[in-house]
Order: sequence, then structure tokens, then C-alpha cells
Amino acid sequence: MHERKLRSVDHLLKGTIIAVTSGKGGVGKSTVAANLALSLAEQGKRVALIDLDIYGFSIPKLLNITSRPKTINGKIIPVGAHGLSVMSMGFLVKENEPIVWRGPMLGKMLEHFFNDVIWGELDYTILDLPPGTGDVALDMHQMLPQCKEIIVTTPHEAAAHVAERAGTMAIKTKHEILGVVENMAYFQPPESEKKYYLFGKGGGQKLAHTLGTEVLASLPLEIPNEDGETPSIYKESSTLNTHYMTLAEKVAELTNTASLL
Ligand SMILES: Nc1ncnc2c1ncn2[C@@H]1O[C@H](COP(=O)(O)OP(=O)(O)OP(=O)(O)O)[C@@H](O)[C@H]1O
Ligand SMILES: [Mg+2]
Repeated sequence: MHERKLRSVDHLLKGTIIAVTSGKGGVGKSTVAANLALSLAEQGKRVALIDLDIYGFSIPKLLNITSRPKTINGKIIPVGAHGLSVMSMGFLVKENEPIVWRGPMLGKMLEHFFNDVIWGELDYTILDLPPGTGDVALDMHQMLPQCKEIIVTTPHEAAAHVAERAGTMAIKTKHEILGVVENMAYFQPPESEKKYYLFGKGGGQKLAHTLGTEVLASLPLEIPNEDGETPSIYKESSTLNTHYMTLAEKVAELTNTASLL
């Protein structure tokens, strides 16, 4: 039973707050959160990316951030990277050290991320959530009642079924679901018209239907860019980049933020 009472803090974050979530692990939440944040920034929005996967943080590695946040009078300045303001538990621990905490400390850390960081003016805050519907997700729902959600799944029916739990939790806690992102939907070899549905078909659509929402994007599998330091950040020349730019436009439309371009 979840007994902690946490204060609502969403007034501290300006603009639209969007949690990227799923009941299932490894479906691409962090990759989607980072690339969506980057595409929104590319379209002229002021964007923060907060890694709320306290135990399994991955955003610093994904964005290849090696610097740490600075502090001024006890307040933290988020790390600026690729045009985003970024905060992660990974900045606060020694090199890849495991976090061994119990639930109540998680709530404190979330409060710290929102209360003690100077976020400044923002159009969007994108939250990368850990898999499942555990303590962090519960705390996030309590602390950020205005937060909207994007649910990520792969097209596999079993994955969509597990992903659904996050959607059900969002509905129960009256969070608006913006839609479903179906990730790893198919593989299309370069120079080929043929699509291979490696993880099956239709999971995203089914999940969206169950949650009474829409599929915002169906993202293909893409071979990581091995020559760079950020293989999971999809560069302008890649197919996935086009998909993420379209997703960002859709998200902006749904959240009624006029493009600044
Ligand atoms: N469209 C894609 N094409 C190819 N690889 C992908 C794609 N999306 C994600 N991946 C890869 O899949 C792996 C899992 O992605 P990611 O870490 O974003 O998932 P996650 O849901 O955040 O996982 P966790 O539940 O552990 O937080 C990573 O290696 C990532 O690079
Ligand atoms: Mg993740």
C-alpha cells in the first residue's frame, strides 16, 4: 500500500509535462523520451528532459553527457546538452554506482528534482519513467497531477498487454493520455520497399483502442549509428528522425503549443 503523501509540484515546472511510460521494460521509453525531446527542441521549443528512472538511469549515457550539474546557493542548474536541460540521478552518483534505496527516499529524490533545480522557462518537460507501475510512477502521479502521458509498446500482443497497465494507472489517476507510440514496429532494410514485422503486428493499435486513445507514431527498428557517440539519437539523415519530427509536431498540436518557428 502506498501511504506517502507528496505535495503537488507541477506549478514548479512551466509548460506541458509529458511522461513517457510503459508497464513493460525495454520497449524504448528512454529512446523515445530523448528523441521526442530533441525533436521538440529542434522545432524551437524550450525543453527539459528528466530521467526519473532512479535505479536504472540511462539518459546521461544515451545523450553521452559527461558533465555534472553545477549548484548555486544550494540550487541545481540542470545540465545543458543538445539544446535540452537535463537532469538524471546518474549525475548525482559516482560512476555507474547502483542505487540501493527504499521507496520513501525515491519520493524525496523526486521532490529534490522538482523543487531544488532551477528549470527556468520551459515549453515542455519530458519525463523518462522506469518500467512498470511502481513507486516512482505512483509518486509522479501524485506530484504532477497535470502531467500527460505517452504509453510506449512494441507491436507484440503480450508486450501491449503489459504496457496497458501503465495506461490503466494513468486513467485511474485521471492523467490525460496523449496516445500510444508503437516502437520497433517493423524493419525495412535500406533501399528496400519490404517491411518485416519482426515482433508481430497490431499491438499498438489494440492498446490505443483499449485506452480510448490513438497511435501517435509507429516507429521502425533502425540499426544504431555506430560511428557516433550517441547511437540511439537519430540524426537528421535517418528515417527515424523524420518519424520523431512528425511525432513532435503531433504532440505540439495535441498540447496546443504554437510552433515558435
Ligand atoms: N526503434 C528502435 N530501433 C532499434 N533499436 C531500438 C529502437 N528503440 C529502442 N531501441 C534499442 O532498444 C534498447 C532498449 O531501449 P530503451 O533503453 O530506450 O528502452 P526502455 O523502455 O527505456 O528500457 P528500460 O525499461 O530498461 O528503461 C536500447 O538498446 C535501444 O537503443
Ligand atoms: Mg529506460
